[in-house]
Amino acid sequence: MKSSLDYSNKIILAPMVRVGTLPMRLMALSYGADIVYTEEIIDWKLLRAERQINDVLKTVDYVDKTDGCIVFRTCDKEKGKVVLQLGTANAERALLVGRKVQQDIAALDINMGCPKDFSIKGGMGIALLYDLDRAKSILTTLVKHLDIPVTCKIRIMPGIDETIKIVKELETTGISAIAVHGRTKTERPRHPVHADVIREIVKAVGIPVIANGGSQEIHKRSDILKFRDACGAASVMIARAAQWNCSVFRDEGPLPIEEVIHECLRLSVDYDNSPSNTKYCIQMILRDLQETTLGRKFLDSQTLEQICEVWNLGSYCRKKQLEYHNAGIRGRRQACPQSDANPQDENCPSKKIKMLSDEISSDVIEHNISFIRVNYADDKELPKSKLYLYTVKNNIKLPKYEVINKNKLFRAIVKVADGKYSSSFWEKSKKFAEQSAALTCLYHLGIESKEKLIENGSMIG
Ligand SMILES: Cc1cc2nc3c(=O)[nH]c(=O)nc-3n(C[C@H](O)[C@H](O)[C@H](O)COP(=O)(O)O)c2cc1C
Repeated sequence: MKSSLDYSNKIILAPMVRVGTLPMRLMALSYGADIVYTEEIIDWKLLRAERQINDVLKTVDYVDKTDGCIVFRTCDKEKGKVVLQLGTANAERALLVGRKVQQDIAALDINMGCPKDFSIKGGMGIALLYDLDRAKSILTTLVKHLDIPVTCKIRIMPGIDETIKIVKELETTGISAIAVHGRTKTERPRHPVHADVIREIVKAVGIPVIANGGSQEIHKRSDILKFRDACGAASVMIARAAQWNCSVFRDEGPLPIEEVIHECLRLSVDYDNSPSNTKYCIQMILRDLQETTLGRKFLDSQTLEQICEVWNLGSYCRKKQLEYHNAGIRGRRQACPQSDANPQDENCPSKKIKMLSDEISSDVIEHNISFIRVNYADDKELPKSKLYLYTVKNNIKLPKYEVINKNKLFRAIVKVADGKYSSSFWEKSKKFAEQSAALTCLYHLGIESKEKLIENGSMIG
């Protein structure tokens, strides 16, 4: 049986690339949004991702096994409220994705408004409004075969008649609602939003219209409602105002951004969000404040722990990461670079590892050892520092590192005396790769014991 989602009177977090990840969505819900959209996710990314239950975080993860990246992470707290926005130009691919993810989302939205080159060249985003047959075939296919509501998000066209004609055509596909960003393809966010055009669309169609584009004038919840009413729309969707201060959804008025940053960091730690994504979201909140002393300290930080430290949440981060690590989070070790020869082949990762391992000469000593940052509270204990001291003490040449970079994954080989050492795992940063190579060397030299490495999760026995 088909599920439904009530699109009347709803305040919605708009889809935002890099911003609409799990911490931001949960924050929006806790501050008063009713429905939250994911960032746009391109169909093939979800197609090649593997659905995994994450028992430690209590999340469902769609993991790209070629680089270990989380393509989509969701949890019970947003069940029935999260809408996944898909970037697609192909009905069959969209349906495959829809079938794969529908158990984890409340609705599927198709992006038909993105004016970026990347989308248009791929026939996605606003290109679909200029290829209505294709747009309709995608929506009709999804509506017919999925058990969840299907919607789309569009921009307006230069002429009002043309816009209404398109919206009416899209309505015939059976979609449950339509989100309208009241700007044309060429208009920029600073240009005024055409609330009058949204109002005309509302009059012309029978499905709920979700008004979008009002952030410039939105500073608090009552402004959100004012914009919705100005458009006469059933619901309203907010992007930038939420990106700047997600507590804009609060009935009681927005909170100071320090509190919002704290909440963002807490959720990022709780849901093991990537440091780069967390950093980006906070940059969007800080905006001009990045130029302050605190802002610069923040910009210098790299790990989640370092970012947290700027707002005095470092020990919370360490405690939580240790807890997760002890509970068995091991995701990163599955990552291996995609083979150039067959980038879509996801069926034989072992073959890929073999091929890439061939680039590491046979005289390199390899062990299944990975560097786990949380094991080292004191920087002096870091494998690279320890190995450096070892060479100084024993009067041998300092360690020399060589790094291999493949599709944003890294392996390092460290040369010490006559030996070359490397971890067999691919890491997501050059620094981690060097640390795991150093750790492999320390193990081989007998400085780190197997028991200790197995106990702290660095080594698979
Ligand atoms: C950082 C950022 C990322 C965005 N990513 C998407 C996206 O993935 N999909 C989409 O349909 N629109 C995207 N948009 C557009 C917004 O959803 C929205 O249509 C636009 O910002 C106008 O709404 P606003 O005035 O509330 O900001 C993005 C906007 C921003 C600022």
